[in-house]
Order: sequence, then C-alpha cells, then structure tokens
Amino acid sequence: MALAVDDYIEFCSFVRRVCGIDLSQYKRPQMERRLRSYFAQQGVANLTEGADRLMRCPNELDGLLDRITINVSQLWRNPEQWELLAAKVLPELAVGRHLEAWSAGCSYGAEAFTLAQTCRDAIPGVSPRILGIDIDRRMIARARHAVFNEADIRSTPPASLARGFERVPEGWQARPELRQMVRFEQGDLLRIRPRRESFDLVLCRNTVIYFAEPMRDELHARLASSLRPGGCLVVGSTERVSEPAAMGLLPTHPFIYRKA
Ligand SMILES: C[S@@+](CC[C@H](N)C(=O)[O-])C[C@H]1O[C@@H](n2cnc3c(N)ncnc32)[C@H](O)[C@@H]1O
Repeated sequence: MALAVDDYIEFCSFVRRVCGIDLSQYKRPQMERRLRSYFAQQGVANLTEGADRLMRCPNELDGLLDRITINVSQLWRNPEQWELLAAKVLPELAVGRHLEAWSAGCSYGAEAFTLAQTCRDAIPGVSPRILGIDIDRRMIARARHAVFNEADIRSTPPASLARGFERVPEGWQARPELRQMVRFEQGDLLRIRPRRESFDLVLCRNTVIYFAEPMRDELHARLASSLRPGGCLVVGSTERVSEPAAMGLLPTHPFIYRKA
C-alpha cells in the first residue's frame, strides 16, 4: 500500500535546499497555515505544486520569504522594556567603557538602533558595540540603510528621535554616530554557535516565538552561554525562558534574565 505523501515535509526539504532555512525547526501549525494560505491566494492547490512553481519562477521566492520570516518590528517596540533597560539594566551592565550587545533576530535593525540611542541617553560615557543578525538578507540590507518610516517611529520618544535620527526623504535615518555603533550580518540562529561569554547584553525578542519548543529552548541555552557572567538576556514581552536556572540564568525583571 502506498503511503500518503506529506507535502509539508517535502516542501520543508525544498526550502532547505533552495534557501537554506530549516522549516522543520519552526512551529508546524502556524508555518503550515501561512504557507498554504500564501499558495491558495495564488490559486496553487498544494505545497508540491507550490515547490514546482517556485522552481519555475525563482523570483517569487521573495514573496515566500515574507511568509516564512515575519519581519514586523519598530523603533522602541514595547517601550516599557526600553524604560527598564535605560533606568536599571544598562547602568548596571556598563561598569567599563565598553558594552558588547547582540540583537538576535534583528529584522530591519529597529531594535539595534533603539539600543544604540538608548545607550547614548542612559550611559553616555560608554561606547556600545551592537551586532544585529537576521536570516533574511533583505532585512539586513534594509538595516544597513538605517531608514525608518512613520509607522516605525510611532513609539519613539521625541527627544530620542531628534538626537538619534535625521529627516531624509524616505523617513528618518539613524545618524552616523548611531550607525558606527551597529553592524549587521546575515545569519541563521539555528546554526550559529556564538562564542562563549562574549556579550554583556543579548536581545532576542519576538523571534523564537516561531520556533518549535525544543529549538527555542536550545537557542535560549546558546544565547545564555554567549553571555558574560552578570550579562543579561532580554526576551519579548510575551515570552519566557522555560528553565532559566538550568542555563545559569536568574530572572531579575519581567522578561530579563541575568547570567550568574
Ligand atoms: C518579528 S521579527 C523581530 C524583530 C525584533 N527582534 C523585534 O522584536 O522587533 C523576527 C525576525 O526573526 C528573523 N528570523 C526568523 N528565523 C530566524 C533564524 N533562524 N535566524 C535568524 N533570524 C531569524 C526573521 O527574519 C525576522 O526578521
């Protein structure tokens, strides 16, 4: 008897071959729903046909990537987190003159530039070095351009906007002082093995929510190991680290964990 073909599993292998993204590590129900609705809107009956179509029209891969990587972001997203970082966390972390930070799943850079300006405001004597990593090369290109639109700035404190960004025809561009604090690289968090104890601060917000739980926990453990003792991991406001103590982390504030 022939076994029924699981077109989702086959589609995941296809995406892995052509884009290098391992969809099997993402939550299947959400990812599958997004992919099927994407193809249904184009009149494509199933994922096997979807893969055939993408092989014939590789320029449609960008549309697919938009479905896979959810790039929603904005400057000062979840302002209460930034207030806490500015008031408590950054001053405690900034014991020396440098601060190494990582925005893991940085999308188009809003989080990294928010951190850069928040450091300037909260710990002015310290020069932060901020690394932004995202799997989506189009987002990395946008992040390097460092331009944000009106929707991106909607939660930005006006004084921070004026100090850190300048008006350009397309919106607001991070000033050179901010841009020199931040660098962006394309990378896959599922594959990266960050150096141990190399960061004072890791932000990984609204990114692992799409990962299957075992992968999410493994990634949190890797992020924890990349922190120096005393360093902090910040997760999204609806997220939690499932077993912080096992990773050497102590919850200190809502959504913030300190490495022992
Ligand atoms: C919703 S955005 C979050 C952006 C930002 N951290 C924030 O909270 O505003 C999630 C980002 O994670 C990225 N992403 C998803 N899977 C990834 C992976 N395996 N490696 C690196 N980045 C990934 C997506 O491309 C997307 O830009």
